[in-house]
Amino acid sequence: MTSLAIGNDIVDLAEPGAAGKARDRRFMDRVFTAEERACILGALSPALAVWKTWAAKETAYKIASKVRGKVVFAHRAFEVEPGAAGTAGGWGRVRFDGLDIRVRWETARDYVHCVGQLIQHRPGDAAASPHEPRPVHSAIVHHGQLLSGTLSAAERASVHSTPSARARLVARRLFERLGLQGVEVLRHWRERGWGPPVAAIGGEMLPGFDVSLSHDGRFVAAAVAGAAQGSGFLRRGRGDPITGVR
Ligand SMILES: CC(C)(COP(=O)(O)OP(=O)(O)OC[C@H]1O[C@@H](n2cnc3c(N)ncnc32)[C@H](O)[C@@H]1OP(=O)(O)O)[C@@H](O)C(=O)NCCC(=O)NCCS
Repeated sequence: MTSLAIGNDIVDLAEPGAAGKARDRRFMDRVFTAEERACILGALSPALAVWKTWAAKETAYKIASKVRGKVVFAHRAFEVEPGAAGTAGGWGRVRFDGLDIRVRWETARDYVHCVGQLIQHRPGDAAASPHEPRPVHSAIVHHGQLLSGTLSAAERASVHSTPSARARLVARRLFERLGLQGVEVLRHWRERGWGPPVAAIGGEMLPGFDVSLSHDGRFVAAAVAGAAQGSGFLRRGRGDPITGVR
């Protein structure tokens, strides 16, 4: 059975450099395949489609590096299914080196958010058979919103900025929604840098759960998944505040 692996990526559309990318030929050629470029340029809003496709690649990279270990992020090797990036919402798919990753976007006036999960390791491999999408809980928090809570010393070890800390607080809140108190979001030091974030309690990894963090400009985002009740791929639990304010 294919293991649980999730990713997420947020893009602040007001960040310097976010505008006009669909017309930046060098960027477009470096990052996107010919099919993706055609899909982006044919979209109703190429400016939005660029960042949806980008966010899907980043999301998939985060998943691939959990499953495969060291992965070089060659953007064009992460193929976003043509057609998916041009749509207003809904499902898309990213393929990378035998991995089949399902993604879903949420777009707003000032951000694009993508959440993804691994569906299959290798098509046709009975030992890594596909599974139905599992519930993934995610949240996006604006920098003007208060977030209460504290991080443990182990969590703080890999924190490098205020958004980095806030993303971990958002993930903690999401775990609390799953009924799990005191979950830490840790990154372990590998040979040359920090590994992907993992969920832990009391320093011990929490088997069967996964977590992903992202921050860009004014936004931080997190996604968590695991032995949650209910169904549906993306459940944001509106009315159940992530931040300390309403
Ligand atoms: C991983 C990467 C895509 C993150 O994208 P980004 O736009 O910088 O940042 P985001 O805010 O979306 O995501 C950052 C979060 O992703 C998580 N993250 C970082 N590396 C990760 C990885 N390899 N897998 C999964 N999650 C990862 C972290 O939790 C990080 O937050 P933190 O620094 O606060 O802990 C980016 O760092 C990158 O391009 N890495 C590739 C480098 C590469 O090719 N290395 C070759 C290794 S052999």
